[in-house]
Amino acid sequence: MRASVNIKYGSPEVLQIKEIAQPIPQADEVLVKIHATSVNRTDCGFRQPEYFIVRLISGIFKPRRQVLGSEFAGEIVGIGANVTRFKLGDAVFGLKTYKFGTHAEFVCVKENGSIDFKPSNMSYQEAAAVCDGLMLAINYIRRIDFKKNKKILINGASGSIGTACVQLAKYYGGEVTAVANTKSLELVKSLGATRVIDYTKEDFTACEEIFDVVLDAVGKSSYYKCKKILKPGGIYYSSELGFMAQNIFLSIWTPLFSRRKVKFPIPKDNQEDVIFFKELIEGGHFRAVIDKTYPLEQIVEATKYVETGEKTGNVVIQVV
Ligand SMILES: NC(=O)c1ccc[n+]([C@@H]2O[C@H](COP(=O)([O-])OP(=O)(O)OC[C@H]3O[C@@H](n4cnc5c(N)ncnc54)[C@H](OP(=O)(O)O)[C@@H]3O)[C@@H](O)[C@H]2O)c1
Repeated sequence: MRASVNIKYGSPEVLQIKEIAQPIPQADEVLVKIHATSVNRTDCGFRQPEYFIVRLISGIFKPRRQVLGSEFAGEIVGIGANVTRFKLGDAVFGLKTYKFGTHAEFVCVKENGSIDFKPSNMSYQEAAAVCDGLMLAINYIRRIDFKKNKKILINGASGSIGTACVQLAKYYGGEVTAVANTKSLELVKSLGATRVIDYTKEDFTACEEIFDVVLDAVGKSSYYKCKKILKPGGIYYSSELGFMAQNIFLSIWTPLFSRRKVKFPIPKDNQEDVIFFKELIEGGHFRAVIDKTYPLEQIVEATKYVETGEKTGNVVIQVV
């Protein structure tokens, strides 16, 4: 099968399209023929690790898993002997966070892994561009009690995580203020933001309003800058570790010694959530935001674009 392979860490050019052996499903796995996948920031972080912890997971000197890609949408073409939930021909979507392997024509997924039937109102391309952002977003949003903490500010609202956070916060009853670039203001409003701040014109940390929650989905700000727009008892979340991994330390220290808290939950995918994502999408509460689509052969170009940090929503890779 064709796959994007990286035998070493490095710049996007380490990704090469090669013919490799097609995986064979174990008894508890299905074989998915991938129609579409995505390039996301996690792929980039594992291709060229910035943090040493990534090498601890992925290999100190070279990557153990040489095919990246965590999102997939496709069709079941192989079934392990013990599989009962899926059958040949089923259209599915899902996620292989930290396991990877979806930048390829085929991937094996455990029947009880992060996989479900593709939402009936989405194309394969759309279904390949929802799970990673949603999984990261739900990791924050589900922890917020919107009955008590309605007012939420989301910075980086136009990114993959940001667009998912805005839609989820709206779904759970939050009153969303979204911070984005001029060109993305209409988009974030259409996703559910009631108020928008253009970061090219205004510093959101200097606004008059006070929020229950500040969620920095792009990790460009910091707890110290955001403290003044957080109410006492308010919560700060960030998708990035911050300067000298401060968000890890602040998440331990602030609940004990500060009136405002930093939380830094570690994301994890599971099948229950993917089933919930399908319901959310089919109920009309969530839509895919796709910036660009590239064929698998142009994975280097797609990756370079993702690494600009300027994509709006998601970048899809068309495999079939
Ligand atoms: N915690 C985790 O496990 C985890 C996992 C994956 C990713 N991440 C991190 O989370 C961050 C966001 O990921 P993502 O995939 O959502 O990123 P992304 O899709 O690349 O989004 C970046 C978005 O942020 C906007 N942006 C850029 N600079 C901004 C600024 N100063 N203020 C407000 N918005 C700004 C960009 O819009 P314009 O260019 O139009 O301005 C773009 O739409 C990344 O730093 C990534 O490394 C964390």
